[in-house]
Amino acid sequence: MRTNAAPKVTVHTLAKMKAEHRKISMLTAYDASFARLIDQAGVDIILVGDSLGMVIQGGGNTLPVTMDEMVYHCRSVVRGTERAQVVGDMPFMSYQASLEDGIRNAGRLVKEGGVEAVKLEGGADYAELAARLVKIGIPVMGHIGLTPQSLHAMGGFKVQGRSQAQAKKLLEDARSLEQAGCYAIVLEGIPRELAKEITAAISVPTIGIGAGVDCDGQVLVIYDLLGMNEEFRPKFVKRYDNLAVRIRTAVEEYITEVRIGTFPDDEHSFSREAPARPESATPYGSARAAAGAGGAVERDPDASGAACIPFPRKT
Ligand code: KIV
Repeated sequence: MRTNAAPKVTVHTLAKMKAEHRKISMLTAYDASFARLIDQAGVDIILVGDSLGMVIQGGGNTLPVTMDEMVYHCRSVVRGTERAQVVGDMPFMSYQASLEDGIRNAGRLVKEGGVEAVKLEGGADYAELAARLVKIGIPVMGHIGLTPQSLHAMGGFKVQGRSQAQAKKLLEDARSLEQAGCYAIVLEGIPRELAKEITAAISVPTIGIGAGVDCDGQVLVIYDLLGMNEEFRPKFVKRYDNLAVRIRTAVEEYITEVRIGTFPDDEHSFSREAPARPESATPYGSARAAAGAGGAVERDPDASGAACIPFPRKT
């Protein structure tokens, strides 16, 4: 059951946002803890991107990501999210071989992963699949421009749509996806002038990444925004923090305290004497989960130390 007062973001919310010229914010998440924080901060859409193949699995591209992996991560993100719309990415070869594959796998992301929409890379060639999914009742987000699943055909992660012919094709792709019923389209790695033109030409929201400020919304990979990878510095990413440094510093401090014996101190240890006030001895994760579910961390109603509030707010 949803506990947040803020209404759930739906395809209708997003259409209204475009009509009212209100910008849409979208970020990726791959687990419940990040999803919860991003959702609480007020993001409109959380994308369970196949970028997890790189930022979670450490691969060089997104191609090896499987449907089972996507379902697993979607389920985790859905558990941590209350307000934002959750979108699941269709991984490479989950829809390219046949319409049937696409329908079945999109169905899995909704049915098993619990997402409210799916995203698929590709233009006019996938309009038929998008239309079938929309007819079934699965909202579809398109994704054109630099489509990472076509990395090898593009000759690398390269800006698309700089030539007139490419720009014309991308505009046609956007129109085909709009006609097929896509409720939004990601524009990745294209000149900002072209993104502006596409955004003006179609009635559904465009969400840009490396596509300039004139899109109806923006998306970034959460780990990039937080500065988790110091080596990764593409032009389109703005770092809003430097967590790589902050995480290392915190971990170094912990290691030092363990080595010199200042952790755990009395404050973080149990003693034989009965506590003056109830203390929590919940197993790993449970106390954090209780806090995440809106409860207090020091949660031990019967003072037995056995309180354990399960994480999922949704089943
Ligand atoms: O997989 C992903 O995270 C994406 C976004 C970067 C748009 O497709």
